[in-house]
Amino acid sequence: MIFDIEDYDDHQAVVLVRDDASGMRAMIAIHDTTLGPAHGGTRLWHYRSDEEALTDVLRLSRGMTYKNAVAGLPFGGGKSVILANGADFNRTRVLEAFGAAVEALGGRYILAEDVGITPADVEVIASRTSYACGIPLNGDNVAADPGPYTARGVYLAMKAALQHQSGSGDLAGRTVVVQGLGGVGLPLCRMLAADGVSLKVADIDARRVARTVAETGATSVAGEDIFAVPADVFAPCALGGIVDNDVAQRIAVDIVCGGANNQLATPQAGQILHDRGILYAPDFVVNAGGVTHTTSQITNYSADEVNRRIAEIPDRLRRVFDLAKAADTPTQDAAERLARDIIARHSAAPAMLEVAHSA
Ligand code: NAI
Repeated sequence: MIFDIEDYDDHQAVVLVRDDASGMRAMIAIHDTTLGPAHGGTRLWHYRSDEEALTDVLRLSRGMTYKNAVAGLPFGGGKSVILANGADFNRTRVLEAFGAAVEALGGRYILAEDVGITPADVEVIASRTSYACGIPLNGDNVAADPGPYTARGVYLAMKAALQHQSGSGDLAGRTVVVQGLGGVGLPLCRMLAADGVSLKVADIDARRVARTVAETGATSVAGEDIFAVPADVFAPCALGGIVDNDVAQRIAVDIVCGGANNQLATPQAGQILHDRGILYAPDFVVNAGGVTHTTSQITNYSADEVNRRIAEIPDRLRRVFDLAKAADTPTQDAAERLARDIIARHSAAPAMLEVAHSA
């Protein structure tokens, strides 16, 4: 039963949508709308089962509640997944049908890109709904891409984590392992290489590895071997759940700081990192650059304002580190507590809610 699933948590709504004409099947999770309409990207993925898709969308939507709250954005948390299964999958028709389904929610959920969905895809979805952002303006797919903004936040967060852990935020001469060389991982590697970082990289897509190695001088590491590479930082930039208990136990780094959502497979993994003295920079604090950029189509933040807000990520992270240190808890717990406090303060001040909705 869906209500019994651990990750169902305190979700406000989970909507299952299907369109037989196109073969579209999708799940839209709305976790919390205290701070504003639920916002989070749409993921298109080939899930092994419906249960796997449900767990993914639930965990991602809760993460968006926390991410938007800590980032100070006037949005609640939500997420959607389109199931890329089915022999007669017609991408354009599926995306259009999905847009119609989002429109039917009347603005309770606003979508953007996520893994498997490009800015051009968002444009197709947005042909059927006004509740979308990250839409290419004047056909400019590059400007709509949240990846470089997310990467910028990860880069700044990494320096703050290094400063906290070692007393110096200087990246030159450090070794960083980057897993996943896509929209976030590649621009991150470019910034790190420019600062003189020794890069060790991995991706299941050999072409992406080759491109990153050619552009940045990185060394390629095969699959599972990345967890054995001694390094200053491990930057997960592929899919979530990558740091399970086993990885947390054997990883040979001082810091985990990357762009992927839901990096910790379990709360215990965070506890193990904490016990081993490995500093975990909570993903939803670190990777808020992209959402700050894409939602500027709704918030009307200028480019300067977006950059100013991304530049605040290190301060937010330091606050989380301080809270965790004071309570001697894993940083993930401290970050979630911070997010819940922000939401609770907002709930206690209904007049503010009005301001947030109209922002
Ligand atoms: P992407 O799809 O462009 O790149 C992901 C890369 O990871 C691909 O190159 C893929 O081949 C690789 N990959 C998948 N499984 C792997 C594995 N087991 N080992 C090594 N490589 C693997 O996705 P994008 O946009 O770069 O996002 C990466 C992560 O960051 C995702 O978890 C996403 O949810 C998260 N994120 C992305 C944001 C953005 O602005 N694009 C914003 C916030 C979070």
